[in-house]
Amino acid sequence: MYTNVWYVAAFAKDLTDAPLQFRAMGADLVLFRDADGVAQCISNLCPHRGASLAQGCLYKDGTLACPFHGYRFNGQGECTVIPSRRDHDPQVVLPGVKTDAYAVQEKYGLIWVCLGDDPDAAAPIFDMPEADDDEYRGAMHEEIWEADYHTCKFTNLDLVHLPVVHGISFKSQENPIQPPDHKVTLFDDGYTSVHRSNTTPSAGVWSEMREKDTFVESTMRFWVPGFTLSGKLEIGGMGSGKFNVFYEFSTPIDENRTMMRYIFFRNYRIEPEFDNEHVRRNLQNAHQDKRIAEAQRPIGALTGPRPEGLYTHDEDKITLTYWTLMERMRDKGWQLDRAQLGDPDHTPRIIPSPARKASPDGWVFPAMATLAATAAREVRVADLSYVDINAIEPTRPKDYALSEPLVPHDPLTTATLEWDGDALKRIEAAPEFVQPMIIENAEKAARERGTNFVTVQLLEELQAQQTG
Ligand code: FES
Ligand SMILES: [Fe+2]
Repeated sequence: MYTNVWYVAAFAKDLTDAPLQFRAMGADLVLFRDADGVAQCISNLCPHRGASLAQGCLYKDGTLACPFHGYRFNGQGECTVIPSRRDHDPQVVLPGVKTDAYAVQEKYGLIWVCLGDDPDAAAPIFDMPEADDDEYRGAMHEEIWEADYHTCKFTNLDLVHLPVVHGISFKSQENPIQPPDHKVTLFDDGYTSVHRSNTTPSAGVWSEMREKDTFVESTMRFWVPGFTLSGKLEIGGMGSGKFNVFYEFSTPIDENRTMMRYIFFRNYRIEPEFDNEHVRRNLQNAHQDKRIAEAQRPIGALTGPRPEGLYTHDEDKITLTYWTLMERMRDKGWQLDRAQLGDPDHTPRIIPSPARKASPDGWVFPAMATLAATAAREVRVADLSYVDINAIEPTRPKDYALSEPLVPHDPLTTATLEWDGDALKRIEAAPEFVQPMIIENAEKAARERGTNFVTVQLLEELQAQQTG
C-alpha cells in the first residue's frame, strides 16, 4: 500500500450533513463538510483519548467536535476549541494539540482524498469526460471485496482471463483464448491498452445491440489515482457510437479488504429506469472476478511480482506494466512498511499528513512507517525472466479444443447472484421457514432467464405462477 495517492473515499452523494467514517490502508478517517460545504478529511482518532470523531457533531463554524470531551477540530486538523477551557486558546491549554488532515477534492461525484504527506507530488486526478457529458448517464455502485487491492485489480487487467472467466473469447483468432494484439502504452501514472476483437457479448441487452461477429475496439486504461481501471467498449460494434464505459475505483480498506466502487456510464438507453439493469449487467462480470479474487491465496497484499513467479510473454505485459507503476511509487519511498503494521483495531494506524511532514514533533500517535527506496525487498520488473514464446516454433498439433470439458463452463453459473433491495425486503417479510425455498426458486429462475439478478418483478412472476 502506498501513500501520496489520491484514493476515492466516498461517493459525494453519501457525504451529507453528518460526519462519514471510513477506513483506508487500515487507518480510520473521517470526512465532513465544513461551513461552506467543502469536504474535509481528518484522522478519526481524537488525539486526546482516541475517541471516534465520527461519533461527534458538526458545528456551524465548520468544526467537528469530539463526542467525549468536545474538543473541536477544523478541516486542517487544528484544534480550535477545548470547551472546558474555552476562554483560552487551545494552544495555551495543550501546546501542540492537533490531528492529521489530508487534501481533499470533490470531483466527478466522488470524494477524493490524498492519503499522504505530499499531495503536490501525487499523480493528479485524471479527466473523466463522460461525467461532464450530457449524452452519457452514469450509475454508481460500491461493495467490499475480501481480498487485497492488487489481487482485486488483477482480476480485471489481463486479457486471457476474459474468455476463461467471463466467456468473452476472441473468436476471430485460431486460438480464441490467446490475447489479441494489444498495444500497451505506459505513461507517468498509468497505462492504456487497446485491442480489437469480435467477441460475442453475453446474453441480454448487450447481445441485442450488435450484429454477431462485428468487431469492437476496447480501450482499457489504468491510473494510479483511485487505483482506477476504466474500460471503454463500443458495445454496438465499431462505428455504432454506442459506448459502455466503466470506471472501477479500488481503495484498500486494509491489506485484506478492498472497497470497490464503480461508475457505469452509457450513451444509449439513458432513461433512468434502465440504470438498474445497466448496473446489474456490468456487475455480472465484476462478480465473476470477485469470486476469483476472494479465493486466491495467500491472503494479504502482494507488494510486487514474485521473484519466482510465472510470467509469460505477451499475456503478462499488462500485469508487469502495473508492477512497473508500483515500482515507481516504491522508488519514491511511498510504500508502507508492511513488517511494521499492526492489527488496525489494536495499533492505531495514522497515515503521514502534510502537517506532520512540516512539523514532525508533538504528535500523540506515531505515523505508519514508509519504506526507504533502498530498503525495498521486491524484485524489479526488469529483473524477471520469461521465455519469448513468439520466437519459438509451436511443437504441438493445433487442437485448441483439447477435448471438451466434462462440464462445459458457463460463466453465468459462476457469477454471484444479486438481489435488489426491494426483493430482499420481500424475503425478510416472509415466514422464516419458507425463506430458503423462495430464495432457491428465485435464483434458479433468474439463472434460467440468463440473469444473475433477482428482482421484485421476478418474485411476483413466480408467485403468480404458483397461485395461478
Ligand atoms: S477523547 Fe476527544 S476530546 Fe477527549
Ligand atoms: Fe474480469
